[in-house]
Amino acid sequence: MLEQVKTIAVDGPSASGKSSVSKGVAAELGFIYVDSGALYRGVTWQAIRKGADPQDAKAVVDAMHAADWHFFVQDGAAIFSIDGDVPVQELREKDVREAVADVAVIPEVRTFVVESLRTLKNFGSLVMEGRDIGSVVFPDSPYKFYLDADPEERAMRRYRELVAAGEDEKAHEVMESLKKRDQIDSTRKTDPLVVAPGAHKIDSTSMTLDEVIETIVGAVKGNS
Ligand code: CDP
Ligand code: CDP
Repeated sequence: MLEQVKTIAVDGPSASGKSSVSKGVAAELGFIYVDSGALYRGVTWQAIRKGADPQDAKAVVDAMHAADWHFFVQDGAAIFSIDGDVPVQELREKDVREAVADVAVIPEVRTFVVESLRTLKNFGSLVMEGRDIGSVVFPDSPYKFYLDADPEERAMRRYRELVAAGEDEKAHEVMESLKKRDQIDSTRKTDPLVVAPGAHKIDSTSMTLDEVIETIVGAVKGNS
């Protein structure tokens, strides 16, 4: 019999560990890793490179619909091209980072991204990380996790990452930017960051990455 396609939803605020944990879980279970935030960042990047103001919803939506999007799997992860280009590093740059939370509140952007994410099940079983995966994208999944950690710990994790990448950021600025994004993400009208009904909450403030990965893998295997 064909094994049923599974979707593991990993939601939570910025720097709660979603990416690192989801990649680890995907590698251990042989599932495809999906970074849903990359799509919101891709829409933002496309708008900026087409000269659209990220605050101008109509211009952002027009640039998004005019582009040619393709999804494919590479090295165990689902990624995409926009008009033939595959942005990776570009998605993490400052102009995109600062505009993405505003772009992600646009209802047409959310509809486009949510529908695109659902089609990825055609590639196989997924570990998808984001803000609304358990609440909106795959609400029927039995495998929903909500990762959290204290804001100070999350800001410290992000700060260490930026310093390691050679970026000249100040710790208090990272804290401010993270708080601002948390606020926008949790209070927006469309699909705010919430703990999905039935989600398993994990506070990773004092857990190692491996401990969080094992908690999720154990819960998925125990439930299969
Ligand atoms: O890596 P980080 O957690 O900082 O952000 P990300 O996952 O790359 O997501 C970037 C932004 O996209 C978030 O701040 C949200 O505004 C938005 N996002 C969303 O609205 N819904 C998702 N499922 C994923 C991301
Ligand atoms: O995807 P998200 O923004 O939620 O977080 P991430 O990029 O996976 O994690 C942010 C940073 O925190 C990474 O450098 C992780 O290695 C680190 N981290 C940690 O130190 N301990 C954890 N339990 C989880 C993540």
